[in-house]
Amino acid sequence: MELPFAESWKIKMVEPIRKSTREEREQWIREAHYNVFQLRSEQVYIDCITDSGTGAMSDRQWAAMMLGDESYAGAKSFFHLKEVIGRLTGFEYVIPTHQGRAAENVLFSHLVKEGDVVPGNSHFDTTKGHIESRKAQALDCTIDEAKDTQLELPFKGNVDPAKLEKALAEHAERVPFIIVTITNNTAGGQPVSMQNLREVRAIADRYGKRVVLDSARFAENAYFIKTREEGYADKSIKEIVAEIFSLADAMTMSAKKDGIVNMGGFIATRHEDWYEGAKRFCIPFEGYLTYGGMNGRDMEALAVGLDENTEFDNLDTRIRQVQYLAARLDEFGIPYQRPAGGHAIFVDASKILTKVPKEEFPAQTLTIELYLEAGIRGCEIGYILADRDPVTRENRFGGLDLLRLCVPRRVYTNNHMDVIAVALKNVFDRREEITRGVRIAWEAELMRHFTVKLERL
Ligand code: F0G
Repeated sequence: MELPFAESWKIKMVEPIRKSTREEREQWIREAHYNVFQLRSEQVYIDCITDSGTGAMSDRQWAAMMLGDESYAGAKSFFHLKEVIGRLTGFEYVIPTHQGRAAENVLFSHLVKEGDVVPGNSHFDTTKGHIESRKAQALDCTIDEAKDTQLELPFKGNVDPAKLEKALAEHAERVPFIIVTITNNTAGGQPVSMQNLREVRAIADRYGKRVVLDSARFAENAYFIKTREEGYADKSIKEIVAEIFSLADAMTMSAKKDGIVNMGGFIATRHEDWYEGAKRFCIPFEGYLTYGGMNGRDMEALAVGLDENTEFDNLDTRIRQVQYLAARLDEFGIPYQRPAGGHAIFVDASKILTKVPKEEFPAQTLTIELYLEAGIRGCEIGYILADRDPVTRENRFGGLDLLRLCVPRRVYTNNHMDVIAVALKNVFDRREEITRGVRIAWEAELMRHFTVKLERL
């Protein structure tokens, strides 16, 4: 008999979590204005709000923390991190930042001007925020197929080359760079193929433009290339990673994802002029160049994390857990963005809460119902997150309305996945009875989902 699959690690430290009663949860979510970001973590049993900064570090990473050099200038830990990034990506210049959005802030301060157009595949909300707050436009050129959650495509995060070509033909002078997000978080943690990255490179070269990779989940993207794209099965993850970055000019990185650290990020590039430009903003916004936004110990942990998470076994364990959860949802007929993404399952709320009008935010309603059911915290990636159109101030109902269930790296077991799946099934079974959603009582102008106050209808 063939041996079953099991994790490529064992557990050395545990953190107790606790269940609550439905009455407790009803009170807590009311006090949180029906916004799960306003809950305390003790009020949550299984936390799937994000895979960002929530992973479990390895013993090697914890050991590396002890070697952190906290010198203000010229810290050994910076050069260690820079060496690992250079080895994996080929990028010579590195600027550490406190997290991914800080990398965007520093780099875009140098590159994005009022009236610019930045084409890419479903820019993440902070990326979009950093473009729009500079009075520039984030132009989404993702393939149309990504919007059909039931369509099974191996690389559903891809850029549509025709859309990108059109964007460049129309706006060439106003395009400071192209940004490709790997994996495409907003479209469901869906990967981008190497072939697609090559096409983007060719188009960029034709117009003399540079390509930035928003690389938060680059290792997971490499795993999908290895397991799904022809010609890559026998390549190592590190070989694939090197090829990915050979097709780009720079990266912004949220190290809280595929770096498996709790905090950190960086910019890396092969171009001295971009490095020189970004440097000027790193110092006032983040910190001196050899620490930016990070502690020496965190840079050490990140250096190890990047190395570990570009090994196949670690990624295989992770992605298979997400796929395990997906298989349980399949058993119950619960619709989600297919195929399962790298870091999360994106449940298609608009196909479940069909009686809740879009103006009452079905995915947010499903998020609340799942929390009430079992204390499981997902988050809405839908109409609330989409913010209002900066010009018309209308809600943007054009995209998908999803409940994202993130799986933190190396944190939960498949028993937890079973609890999530059954809790969601229980909500799914009474979906016809859920006819009303929420209304917005208060919202911020930008990135409203973090602080929005809602009322239950
Ligand atoms: N880019 C992508 C693709 C992201 O998913 C994120 C963060 C960022 C950039 C910003 O990085 O949080 O370190 O500042 N995504 C988290 C999430 C917050 O839950 O998806 P950050």
